[in-house]
Formats: sequence, C-alpha cells, structure tokens
Amino acid sequence: MDIVLSGIRPTGKLHLGNYFGAMKNFIKMQEENTCFFFIADYHSLTTHPTPEDLHGSVKHVLAEYLACGLDPEKSTIYIQSDVPEIPELYLLLNMNAYMGELERCTSFKDMIRKQPDNVNAGLLTYPTLMAADILIHRSHKVPVGKDQEQHLEMTRTFANRFNRIYNVNYFPEPVAYNFGEELVKIPGLDGTGKMGKSEDNGVFLADDVDTIRKKVMRAVTDSGPTEPNQPKPDAIQNLFTLMKAVSTPDTYSFFDEKYNTCQIRYGDLKKQLAEDIIKITSPIRENIEGILEDNEYLRKVAKMGAEKARESATMTIRDVRRIIGFRQF
Ligand code: TYM
Repeated sequence: MDIVLSGIRPTGKLHLGNYFGAMKNFIKMQEENTCFFFIADYHSLTTHPTPEDLHGSVKHVLAEYLACGLDPEKSTIYIQSDVPEIPELYLLLNMNAYMGELERCTSFKDMIRKQPDNVNAGLLTYPTLMAADILIHRSHKVPVGKDQEQHLEMTRTFANRFNRIYNVNYFPEPVAYNFGEELVKIPGLDGTGKMGKSEDNGVFLADDVDTIRKKVMRAVTDSGPTEPNQPKPDAIQNLFTLMKAVSTPDTYSFFDEKYNTCQIRYGDLKKQLAEDIIKITSPIRENIEGILEDNEYLRKVAKMGAEKARESATMTIRDVRRIIGFRQF
C-alpha cells in the first residue's frame, strides 16, 4: 500500500488550482492508500501573517478540507505545527542541503522578486521543510500541481543524499502525482499565469454564486478569431484549460469547435464556464459554512490528526536519530 501525502499553505481561501492540483486527486486516493493531508502553517510564516490571519486561515483551510470530502476516519488530517518531529527532521536535513541548490530553486527566485524586503532564511530553506513534511512519513506519492514539481525533485535529492551518506536504504523516492497523468496547472482569469490567491485571478471554493459569475464574466478575452483553426492566444487558451477541468468533454468540444470555425461567442463560453464551476463549488461552499460553525468538530479532527501523525512521525525520527548516530550512553 502506498503512503500518500499532500499539504496546502494556509495563506487565504482555497481556489480551484488547489482543488484540481492537489485536493481532488487526494480525495480519490484516500480510499485505497495510507493518506496524510496537512495544513502547512509553518510554511506560511515566510510571508509574515498576523496572528489573527494565521489562526483564521488555518481554521478556514481545515474546514475546507473536510468540506471537499477529506475523511478524518480514512486519512490523517493534521496541522503541521502540531507535529514537532517535522521541524526536527527539517533541522537534520538542512545539514545536508547546500546554499547553491537552495538559491537556484525557482520558487526562491520568485519570492525574492515578490518580496525583496523580506528575503528570510525560511524562504531559502523552504524546500528542506517541504522535504521534511514528505519524508517524515516516508511517503511515496505526493498529489500536487505542476508548480511543486521542482520541490519534489529536491526532496528526492535530499532523500537519496541521506541514504548515501549513511549507507542505508531508508527513505523512498517520492514522486509528484496526478493519477499517472500530467501534473496540472490551472490558469487564472487575468489572462496571464496560474491561478493564485489574488482576488482578480482566482475563483475560491468559498465564493458565492454571484461572485463566481462576476469573476468569470470579467475574465480577459479578445475580439475573437479571424481565421479557422487559429492558435488560441494565452488568455483564451486559459479559459479552455479551465473548461477542460470543470466541464464535460462534450461541452469542451462544442466550444472548441465554435472557436475553430470562428463562431465563438465568449459571453456564452463564460456563462457555461461559470455554471460548471458553480456545480462543483456550490456543495463544497455549503459544507464549508456548516463546518466552520462547528468548533468542537474542528478541534476533535485536529486533535485526532495530530495524534495519528505524531505516531508515524515519531517512528521516523527515532530511526533517523539512530542512523545519524544519536545514541544513549
Ligand atoms: P500551495 O499552498 O501554494 O498550493 C497547494 C496545492 O495546490 C496546488 N496549486 C495548483 N495546482 C494547479 N494549478 C494551480 N494554479 C495551483 N495553485 C496551487 C499546488 O501545486 C499544491 O499542490 N509548498 C506547497 C505546500 C506544501 C506541500 C508540502 C505540498 C508544503 N509542504 C508537502 C505537498 C507536500 C505550497 O506552497 O502549495
């Protein structure tokens, strides 16, 4: 049986990228594997949230996990900062992580650009913390979006390096996973890059119906194709990629055909896209609202998750300490 693990940073509400990149695969996998799904609250400290924002986001994301269908009886659902074995493994892995490789990491370079006044050591060592998250349960498969591919590659490097230095075969090589298919990158609505947390570009699982319709109708388009089978410009391709994720294959083909024959009406496409998004998010949104009010349930889930996660993490740390040479007199 595979050990499957994934996590999301609590830096706001979950969007469709989080859902299709990580959550949806994970929900399918929890039926047949040993699954860990956590809230990466230590990771979110790299951007310096206020205590209120930190707590609020952790609570919201936990409710969203449950609302999407993560089952605390089938999966271990926990908050990263409840498991002190993770920062211990992070410290140990950092001893064999090198400045050069950390500085070359694309996400580090992106963050230097995004927050030049806050280039902290946590950003530099983000990949070792992520490796610790994954290796603490000796995971095999990590359902994530395309943007996390390089972090998984670094995790394999750290795992292999540990095995080599200590001449053991202890850590497996975890792979970024999407049911044997390509990893996905869900685009934003602003015609540029991937969907993220910004209001203009993301559709959140917690958005109400009107908000979703407004956001989708505002999505960037152009004046339409002028010749049959013209390649789609980025902004248009993005809408089609979103449609591929949320709509039926027939709906997708219908609009693709309209585009290729220059009969496309973007207004119709957007209306359909909005309704198909709403079909997926509405039941989740209703669940979120109910679960958020049930503090007692959230507390119970977090406590049970922390206990189960620590049970597995403690075994790994015990082994790792012994392998490294920490021994009792
Ligand atoms: P984060 O919080 O940025 O995103 C959480 C998950 O959502 C996926 N994702 C996307 N997938 C497709 N299209 C998008 N537009 C999109 N946006 C986000 C991400 O790929 C990710 O799977 N470093 C991680 C959190 C993390 C983690 C881990 C993940 C910490 N430790 C260990 C897996 C294993 C992150 O920042 O994801």
